[in-house]
Amino acid sequence: MAKTPRSSNTPDSVAPQLKQHTGVTQEYGTIVKLPNGLTESVCKKSVALLNQTLADTMTLRDMYKKHHWQVVGPTFDQLHLLFDKHYEAQAELVDIVAERIQVLGGVTLAMAADVAEETRIPRPPRGREPAVVQMSRLAQAHEMIIIAARKNAETVADTGDSGTNDVLVSNVLRTNELQAWFLTEHLVAVTPTPTA
Ligand SMILES: [Fe+2]
Repeated sequence: MAKTPRSSNTPDSVAPQLKQHTGVTQEYGTIVKLPNGLTESVCKKSVALLNQTLADTMTLRDMYKKHHWQVVGPTFDQLHLLFDKHYEAQAELVDIVAERIQVLGGVTLAMAADVAEETRIPRPPRGREPAVVQMSRLAQAHEMIIIAARKNAETVADTGDSGTNDVLVSNVLRTNELQAWFLTEHLVAVTPTPTA
């Protein structure tokens, strides 16, 4: 194999060591005990719940960008902007949830292929869908995350993990409830059905 060309003047001590494959230093699903006053089993339980939340949140985040790009129709401008605004908030959530996992000594899911295997949100088609279908799909994903966040918040409150409870309620639940409201108000018929 040909050697990477390198100036003969470069001392070995400062030459970049580019081919390093030392393997995984912490397996996914394991916990490193940190001084946070929580037992390893409590952290492990919270991390598992948070990684599911993370997979679903990353999927919803990316669905917002898909719909931001692909939306069409007379409400294009408004929805194009709304979808991107919600994408940004979901991206912030992703970071908050992921860093909570690391705070607990866990390992975050990170790559798209792993997220695709773990998320419970139905996979949308690659092709373009009408705006109302996009919004229905997003609303369904929000509700799945909302239901899980409420249930998981109670679970981690019972184990004493107040920090994760706060993330699930103050960040995940509140953001998704708000975005679900903004979305579904767009699905109300412009002309109400007259009552008899
Ligand atoms: Fe954009």
